[in-house]
Amino acid sequence: ENAQLKDIISHAKEYGFIFPSSEIYDGLQAVYDYGQMGVELKNNIKSLWWKCMTQLNQNVVGLDAAIFMHPLTWKASGHIDSFNDPMIDNKDSKKRYRADVLLEDKAAQYEADGHFDKAKDLLVEMGRLLGAEDLDGVRELIVQEGIKCPVSGTANWTEVRQFNLMFSTQVGSVAEESQTIYLRPETAQGIFVNFLNVQKTGRMKVPFGIAQIGKAFRNEIVARQFIFRMREFEQMEMQFFVRPGTEMEWYNQWKETRKKWHEAMGIPSDKLRFHDHDKLAHYANAAVDIEFQFPFGFKEVEGIHSRTDFDLSQHQELSRKKLQYFDNDLNEDGKPYGNYIPYVIETSAGADRLFLMTLCNAYQEEEITEGDATKTRTFLKLHPSLAPVKAAILPLTKKDGLPEKATEVFNALKYDFNTIYEERDSIGKRYTRQDLIGTPFCIAIDHQTLEDDTVTVRDRDSREQVRMPISELNSYIDKAVNF
Ligand code: GAP
Repeated sequence: ENAQLKDIISHAKEYGFIFPSSEIYDGLQAVYDYGQMGVELKNNIKSLWWKCMTQLNQNVVGLDAAIFMHPLTWKASGHIDSFNDPMIDNKDSKKRYRADVLLEDKAAQYEADGHFDKAKDLLVEMGRLLGAEDLDGVRELIVQEGIKCPVSGTANWTEVRQFNLMFSTQVGSVAEESQTIYLRPETAQGIFVNFLNVQKTGRMKVPFGIAQIGKAFRNEIVARQFIFRMREFEQMEMQFFVRPGTEMEWYNQWKETRKKWHEAMGIPSDKLRFHDHDKLAHYANAAVDIEFQFPFGFKEVEGIHSRTDFDLSQHQELSRKKLQYFDNDLNEDGKPYGNYIPYVIETSAGADRLFLMTLCNAYQEEEITEGDATKTRTFLKLHPSLAPVKAAILPLTKKDGLPEKATEVFNALKYDFNTIYEERDSIGKRYTRQDLIGTPFCIAIDHQTLEDDTVTVRDRDSREQVRMPISELNSYIDKAVNF
């Protein structure tokens, strides 16, 4: 992990954003907890996504399906048969690796050394072998490339095996009656199986979408890069049901809409890029990733997939329930389009990945001069709508009635914004602390406040202060927070 990521990880821990899961027991690999600041930031990301999907689009509605689903769901979706990663073990270190990740790392090394053609050839060959499920070929390629185990330094590899990423568990208390079920590896299937319920009860007309936020679970073989790849994570997915033949139009539209959304959240456009998939998942006929430039390179934060009628057709076949839609709009011949299984465009973002993207993008270190001294100021330049705390209310001293006045201000703002009241330490130290958690406004209550009901408002990014009447605070903060 590079230096910048290390700084961000320790910052996230130190200021209550992210803790390792069950840390007192030395943690659990690839599982994390969100602390007092983290939960606010994550909730803000999720609620802005929810608002933009459901409130701003008349034809998109929400859903909250259960994590447990009938086991046939995963047979139909293809996850039981195809949701695999190629795994290889090193015989000396007994460590397990993803074969494709070992090869990708080798290609990255070629690239870093300026051997771009070699890197490309390696990735193409890997794609070909994996596409053909030639696992022996994949092992041969690893051996040919002289790839060594990062731990033991040897090239003593086992064969490559497919490893299913779904977690399973048992339902039912009596052994004979118990049944194996899975923790969902994506939220999407909860939407597909409810497609007709929502369409009929909501009187939805194609094209329409169903949005959902929820936990998903994958038994990832390699867990790396902090919360980038976790075993328990949260997805924000939207399935958009369209008339067959119109899917590419909607695919392109959602692709652009989603990139613009990330930009509106404060991510500069030059840190985002599209990456078309070379190897399509078993359900897709077109797929693109939106990638963000993390400290460890451009990596996927969201996928937009054209899933055809694959999922609905599969569910129709295995459930033996019709999953068709009757379209009474008229076609070119003046006849209703009639019955069909809609095609689906999916937008699928990871809430935790967007969290990491937001944190990496916001983390700033700048040199500032205070008197004769220069020092480094660390602050989180979060979009105000995402900041965990919108304003800190700070009485200059603990006496002269300033705390009482500050409490009045706090009480006036708390119904509309998440605010903090803080009277300990010097005002400078309190400003620093708010910078570190990304609070956009610090409101100082001083002796003048007692005379004329005005306060100073310090801006996190410019560190400039303006004086304004208490009565204007609400609309001032509101303007920055709601955009
Ligand atoms: N329904 C389609 C689907 O699940 P995906 O590309 O496998 O597609 C979508 O996942 C998004 O979910 C990814 O872009 C990523 O943001 C997030 N995601 C997937 N696996 C993850 C993991 N192990 N940890 C954190 N986020 C993950």
